[in-house]
Amino acid sequence: MDIVSEIKRLKRERNAVILAHNYQLPEVQDIADYNGDSLGLSIEAGKTKADVIVFCGVWFMAETAKIISPEKTVLIPDPGAGCPMADMLNLTQLKALKEAHPAAKLMCYVNSSVEVKAECDLCCTSANAVDLALKAFLPQEEVIFVPDKNLAAYAAREAGRPFIIHPGFCPTHNRIQAAHVQAARDLHPKAEVLVHPECTLEVIDAADKALSTGQMASYVSRSASKEFIIGTEEGMVYRLQKDNPGKAFYPLLPGMMICPNMKKITLNKVYEALRDMRFEVKVDEEIASRARKAISRMLEFTDS
Ligand code: 13P
Ligand code: SF4
Repeated sequence: MDIVSEIKRLKRERNAVILAHNYQLPEVQDIADYNGDSLGLSIEAGKTKADVIVFCGVWFMAETAKIISPEKTVLIPDPGAGCPMADMLNLTQLKALKEAHPAAKLMCYVNSSVEVKAECDLCCTSANAVDLALKAFLPQEEVIFVPDKNLAAYAAREAGRPFIIHPGFCPTHNRIQAAHVQAARDLHPKAEVLVHPECTLEVIDAADKALSTGQMASYVSRSASKEFIIGTEEGMVYRLQKDNPGKAFYPLLPGMMICPNMKKITLNKVYEALRDMRFEVKVDEEIASRARKAISRMLEFTDS
């Protein structure tokens, strides 16, 4: 059996679309109709005319697609693909934060559960966190930012407003240290260093730019530079190399920047998902409708 042809056949039969995050395995990226970052994938989930979305990414991303498009069937090829950062914040912890700061507005990174989003005023992704921190609140308003302490620190500094934070982090991005950036620069002195804003502020300051994965893709294609050191999950290096064959990409910390959850999605599981219409992502509509407000508000700001 040619698995790629079978996936394509089943996709037509089911009127399905395959959305894949930039950290997916190369063969999964290659079969996708759309590859992107969390923001791009959310926008795509809202626009698609397909009846079925096969979401190749981690759980909160597939859940966000379902919140945005409740009338569609959303499948995730491996329901065990979670995000440890999203799991670092539960409702009890969030409610304690709210009780300690009753007047504060709540902003959540999209890397969070539907239950957390439902309690928040505004959702953000790494592509728009700074912009929303600047535009979405009054200067005197107190704002709680959850769950990523690194993105919170970066957005707070760039927007010039303090955030009340929760100490969550991404185990993959948190691994990078400023000394690793310097060591990579010593090896590739002509390369620009791009890192993800889930890295620590020290790493961001040692790099040239902090960008979401979608922003990395557009920045690299516009930049006059020919070499780049990439400080994010290594799936991104494949995406950039494929889109820019004339440029060179060096992973920061080669072999160590792997999100094991992103890598749980394989071509065979994509095939099985379409064949058996499994694993369907379901969300409670009452909770989803509250979470949808925080996401819609983010998308309205993004459009404006
Ligand atoms: P992006 O939205 O930049 O693709 O990031 C998602 C993510 O989980 C990074 O670890
Ligand atoms: Fe979550 Fe980090 Fe994996 Fe992104 S790379 S999905 S933040 S664990």
